[in-house]
Amino acid sequence: MSKVLVMDHPLIQHKIGILRRTDTGTKDFRALISEIAMLECYEATRDLKLSDVEIETPICKATVKELSGKKLAIVPILRAGLGMVDGMLTMIPAAKVGHIGLYRDPESLKPVEYYCKLPDDCSEREVFVVDPMLATGGSCIAAIQMLKDKGVGHIHLMCIIAAPEGIEAMQNAHPDVDIIVGAKDERLNEHGYIVPGLGDAGDRIFGTK
Ligand code: PRP
Ligand code: URA
Repeated sequence: MSKVLVMDHPLIQHKIGILRRTDTGTKDFRALISEIAMLECYEATRDLKLSDVEIETPICKATVKELSGKKLAIVPILRAGLGMVDGMLTMIPAAKVGHIGLYRDPESLKPVEYYCKLPDDCSEREVFVVDPMLATGGSCIAAIQMLKDKGVGHIHLMCIIAAPEGIEAMQNAHPDVDIIVGAKDERLNEHGYIVPGLGDAGDRIFGTK
């Protein structure tokens, strides 16, 4: 069974509190999503492999640590996942970025694929899938399956708000993928929205409603 980490750091909790408010406008919403992604990234990368390398400081030779595992990639689920990319790249600037386009059909709540462009060598990379919202789980489950179908073996999922239903569905579908979330909310409503949630993340990031 995959690990689920709910990040209870005070800075993340405070920022999520502002995100949820109806009166938080697009500019602040976008900035907060990016800042939370940056803070989550710090924890999501905790287990990256390090090795010793010999260097010279201005004073003497020294042994220092260097990241040594697989190279990294960030894969946002369009659209809302795009809001998390800058924050992630602030922490891991050399990561490549792939894009998966999915939208949730408003009636069936099933994900509909419309775009996929991944780094050529993505199967050799450790991939961080980012999407602020894990609701029914359908979108993240489908995106991760698309990555697995391309041979990606090491995948992490980073979300900001998750419903218990989405976490359970993800764990059943992809028990090998760890999940990092900023908050685990109460439930989904009859329209598949997270309660209390923050509304439609894509619309709030891009100001489309
Ligand atoms: C939102 C969100 C997730 C998905 C979550 O995207 O960003 O991708 O819904 O719902 P699920 O867990 O039930 O699949 P949406 O389909 O609204 O598209 P958008 O990002 O383009 O607005
Ligand atoms: N997608 C969103 O953007 N918000 C929700 O609450 C559920 C799905």
